[in-house]
Amino acid sequence: PPLSEILNLHDFEAIAKLVMTEKAWAYYSSAADDEITNRENHIAYHRIWFRPRIMRDVTRVDFTTKILGHDSSMPIYMTATALGKLGHPDGELNLTRAAAKHGVIQMIPTLASCSFDELVDGAKPGQVQFMQLYVNKDRAITKRIVQHAEERGVKGLFITVDAPQLGRREKDMRQKFDDEGANVQKGDASVDRNQGAARAISSFIDPGLSWKDLDWFKSITKMPIILKGVQCWEDAFIAYDQGCAGIVLSNHGGRQLDFARSGIEVLVEVVEKFKEKRGITFPRPGFEIFVDGGVRRATDVLKAVALGATAVGIGRPFLYAYSSYGPEGIDQALTILRDEFEMNMRLLGAPTIKDVVPDMVDARSISTH
Ligand code: FNR
Repeated sequence: PPLSEILNLHDFEAIAKLVMTEKAWAYYSSAADDEITNRENHIAYHRIWFRPRIMRDVTRVDFTTKILGHDSSMPIYMTATALGKLGHPDGELNLTRAAAKHGVIQMIPTLASCSFDELVDGAKPGQVQFMQLYVNKDRAITKRIVQHAEERGVKGLFITVDAPQLGRREKDMRQKFDDEGANVQKGDASVDRNQGAARAISSFIDPGLSWKDLDWFKSITKMPIILKGVQCWEDAFIAYDQGCAGIVLSNHGGRQLDFARSGIEVLVEVVEKFKEKRGITFPRPGFEIFVDGGVRRATDVLKAVALGATAVGIGRPFLYAYSSYGPEGIDQALTILRDEFEMNMRLLGAPTIKDVVPDMVDARSISTH
């Protein structure tokens, strides 16, 4: 169907399934084991309801915000998703260009199909990019990657902490991996090509990563460090106490531990415990909470923002958008989100993002109280 008939982010997924190669679809869409967490990432949002306010002059609504101190046109960012060329020959560059056009921030994945430098060079002057890091067993390699990113102007280091081993994504494992679209060294003996794309590219990740390593990271970079994949309040407290700039409450799009809880559910727990035990409320500069997983509508984002998130990461919808329609697809996906923000903030009675407050949602069904 023509792009003009695409009305929401779900539509891109339906088209992508039809037009993508089986291998690309398997890698992008798959999640761990029985994919229960992947499903939960969506339905957890269905348990939160709005408490809109009326008569608040919403002639103009402004959904611009700051993420780690940087301007963003909406409270979303493009989260890291590996192997961008499986879906389209320009790979992650599609995201870089659309991010520039729409004023949103892209998180560059360690395992991008495009090289890191291509994605930085593809950005407009002043365009803010973050980097997602998989920590290598060889810390010299990790140090080089991190310092290169900082030198090239990356503004935040998101260390993935939920993947000491890659989850079993069985849809993906049924496909053989042949380096197509990947940025892995050909002939690398450690690559097991019989286990799907994800497992083929991830054998370098260090399962020995521990809290002790944080000081080392702080010694090699001045970039703010954010832990991606925090899943309970106890770890959120440790990250806070150890001087992280933030956390992403994420289960990796349901691709790691099946039966991990959704990010939005963990958000409620984390925010409640910070208030109860530390007297700290969110959003808060200096320690920002992000959420990702299953976000498909501006209403999902607004729920997370109301509950204390600074912004929300979106993964698969953007992959599906450019895989189906190329650059116009991702442009349309961001336009759809912008339109959804405008309308839903009006209907909520929130002229600005600061007006999207906890009282605007009823999250009793996922509260810890
Ligand atoms: C991911 N994700 C991910 N995360 C990460 O830290 N490093 C990575 O290389 C990848 N790669 C990756 C590939 C693909 C195809 C997907 C779908 C996801 C996880 C990603 O950053 C994020 O946590 C989820 O994608 C969010 O869920 P949604 O928006 O895809 O539902």
